[in-house]
This record gives sequence, structure tokens and C-alpha cells, in this order.
Amino acid sequence: MTKMVINPNRKLSRINKEIYGHFSEHLGRCIYEGIYVGENSPIENVNGMRTDVVEALKAIRVPILRWPGGCFADEYHWKDGIGPKENRKKIVNTHWGGVVEDNSFGTHEFFELCRQLGCETYINGNLGSGTVQEMQEWVEYMTFEGVSPMAELREKNGSKEPWKVDFFGVGNENWGCGGNMNPDFYANEYRRYQTYVRDYKADHHIQKICCGANVDDYEWTKDVLATCYRHSLPAQHGFMDGLSLHYYVHPEGWEIKGSATDFDEKVWYKTLYKALFMDELIRRHGAIMDEYDPEKKVGMIVDEWGTWFTCEPGTNPGFLYQQNTMRDALVAGITLNIFNKHSDRVKMANLAQIVNVLQAVILTEGDKMIKTPTYHVFDMYKYHQDSDLVDSSIETETIGVDDEWRVPNLTESVSVDADGVMHITVTNLSLEESYSVDAHMVDWNVNEVKGEIVTDEMRAMNTFEDPEHVTVKKYDGAEVTESGVKFTIPPCSVLHLELR
Ligand code: AHR
Repeated sequence: MTKMVINPNRKLSRINKEIYGHFSEHLGRCIYEGIYVGENSPIENVNGMRTDVVEALKAIRVPILRWPGGCFADEYHWKDGIGPKENRKKIVNTHWGGVVEDNSFGTHEFFELCRQLGCETYINGNLGSGTVQEMQEWVEYMTFEGVSPMAELREKNGSKEPWKVDFFGVGNENWGCGGNMNPDFYANEYRRYQTYVRDYKADHHIQKICCGANVDDYEWTKDVLATCYRHSLPAQHGFMDGLSLHYYVHPEGWEIKGSATDFDEKVWYKTLYKALFMDELIRRHGAIMDEYDPEKKVGMIVDEWGTWFTCEPGTNPGFLYQQNTMRDALVAGITLNIFNKHSDRVKMANLAQIVNVLQAVILTEGDKMIKTPTYHVFDMYKYHQDSDLVDSSIETETIGVDDEWRVPNLTESVSVDADGVMHITVTNLSLEESYSVDAHMVDWNVNEVKGEIVTDEMRAMNTFEDPEHVTVKKYDGAEVTESGVKFTIPPCSVLHLELR
């Protein structure tokens, strides 16, 4: 019997709902087709947004959406995407497939989408190829309420009321596609650009996100913080509210990546091993942040994470379209448990990307839509949003098919929500073994336990022909004991237990 100990009276940190955030880029069929089909589409829509997709996303309580990129953000000139659609500039999406971008989805459409989803907004500004004035005017356009040229322009374009920008990214991947800058150069540019990301509303602070490191580039974190972090100022009026981190899992490395659907047991464990690397990244970048910010006022913002495989055969390689299997479900379950455990520092995370791109929660084909295994994990984990992480631990052993790529058999995290309900999420990484777990509660009586589970064989996926192959199923394998609860978790599964 595997032992687990949970101490609900030891609340460790708040799991910000933004940790369950998403990312939408003008890339492939994410925005166009996947979300936005236009008002005249035969596909059911509200103001151009697909109703099926919006409803599905509402069900997993998408808390925040990042837009318009990604690499696209540092080439995006926001004025191209406002005003009458027939007058909007047609540009080339140079990063993603070289296709025509007609700018029919722009600032007004993004805020309409977030209104329909009921989520917060995270705009990523253009530092790489845009001017300070352009960035300043975008913020003014979106948020200024009084008399000003940008507020007048917004009203002329149909929105008298300003919108609320919750987070603003000052550039994206500026060490790479966002201008190939070195850390010192970016850090000084960040200081300059962020000055003009103003809070036009006295009672609302736009949280500014500084571009952080690519994977394990700890020098970037050190150098950028050395130039940008001013600890003499309170964080809410300081230079930065968050520092980003990007990390993708590609089993065979950046050049080859590996198939999304055709893999063996060894690659299964290799992929999960690489997903677990997120924990080390958060610890090591976090330790550098601690040197400047021991009170953890600046959030680590993992605004791009997920699997990145070789694109589906026959699709445009620039569109990054990939299928999604139980392996993705495990990557999601493991990673979200890691974020929960580090929620003292990780304040937001955005899965890349929300529809039809990389580890998407939704795939579409014409008027058809399917929910991926990853979607179902987000559905089960949504109860952690804005709950309190509590102290928990589980006994583990290392498993794998040979001496390489060995991983722990189980991962977990536990939270208690505002109604006092406990949520336990556990992943079983083993392809063969089920584990019986005896969870002991410290000073907490369990009256009732309910469960739900996503489980199947490792390559199982949903297709347009078989859309419900992998779904959330009711789980009856848990029972209340004298000291807590016991349950058996089957191989290759992600489990959620709700305890009252
Ligand atoms: O998510 C796809 C791309 O990955 C983003 O545009 C970029 O920021 C990252 O390299």
C-alpha cells in the first residue's frame, strides 16, 4: 500500500486561477477557423466566435487568455486590426506558414471573445519591431476613459467604453523571434517600453510581464533581473509584476521532435521525464528570483508550456497542428501538479495553444469539434483554481523500461477550495502497474468521497470519427477510512478526488 499524507490545516499558498490559463496566437488554425469564423459563417457563432468552442472553453473555466502571440506579437501592429474589416491591411504571417493575415480578428474581437468566455485578458505587446509610441497608444486605446485621440478612435470603431487589460507582456521571446536581443539590451528596452504601459484607471493596475528565459537559460534570468528589478519600489508600482518562462516538451529534441501519436513505451517515459523537468526549471529560476525578491512579489509566468511534436502528416508544417493522446493528458496532469506545488512563485501559466495548435484542448475540422484528452484533464483540475494548496506528500518509486528516462510512478497535489472541499489530483505514470494508496489526513474528517478519472492505453486519442473515446469517467474506486481515504489508481491515468 502506498502512503500519502495530507495536512489540510497547513495552507501553503493560493493556487491562482491564472495558472490554468491559455494562449491563442495568430498561428495556423488557432484564431481563424478554430475560434473565429466570422459573423457570416454557416458555423453557429456569436459575433463571429464559434459557439461550440466558446461553450466548451467556458466549461473548463478558462480564467485568462493570452493574445496575439507568441512570435506573431513582435510583428503585430495593432492598428492593422481595427476599423472596418474591408479596410484592414492584409499582411503576411511570416512566422507561421507565410499565409495571408487579413486582420479580421483584432483588438475589438479579442475583447469580445474574452467577454464571451468570461475570462481575464493578457495582451502581448510588440517590442521587437514596434515603437514605444505604438505600444503606448495601444494601451491608451484599450484602457483610457477620458478625452484622447486613442479613446476617440476606439469610440469611432464602436467601443465607447474602455476595456480592462489584466496583464501586458512587454515583448515575447526577445532572446529569439522577438528581436534576437542579448539580456542587457532587452532589459534596457524593457525599462523604456514598460514606462509607457500606463495605468489610466486609478483603481486598476495592468500587470506588466517582462520577457524571461528560454528553458534553462539561467544567465538570462540573472542579467535581466539585475537591470530591471528595483526592490526599493513596491511591486505594484515597480518595473515588473511577472517574469516569463517558456518550456516545451519535445521527446526527440528541437530538430526532430517526434510523432504525436506513434510512439513506444520508451518514448512514453522519455516524454514524461522531460515534462518533469519543469520542476527543476521553476526551482532554479525561482532561486535566482528569490535573490531579488524573497517575498515573491514578482510572479513566475510560464506563459508557454506543453508538448511540441512533429506536425500531423499532410498538414502545413507552419501551422503546428498535432493530435493529442493519453500521453498529453499525463503531461498536463504532471505539469499542473508541479505548478500547484510551486504556486507561491508561479502566478500564471498558459498552455500552448488553446485550439488546433500544439497541445490544444480543442481540435476542429470544418463545423466539427473535439475535446482532447488534455481538455479533460483541465476539466478535472479546474477545482484547484483559486483554492489553497495544502501540504501533501506521497511515497514514490522510480519506474521506466530501462536505465534511462526513469520517472516517479506517481505525482500529486492537493487543495482546499473556498467551500472547504478538498481536491486531490494524482497521476499514475506507469503503463502497467496500478497502485493502492492509503491517504492519511491530519486532523480532518472525511465524510464523503467522489472521484473522476481520465484513463486509457497510452496512444488513445479522440478523433472526429470517435470524439468521445477518451473522456472523464466517474470513478468509484475510493472509500473513506478511519484516517482518511484509500483508492487504487490504474496505470496511465489522471485522477481527481473530491472530499467533503
Ligand atoms: O507557441 C508557438 C511559438 O513558440 C510561439 O509563437 C513562440 O513564442 C514560441 O517559440
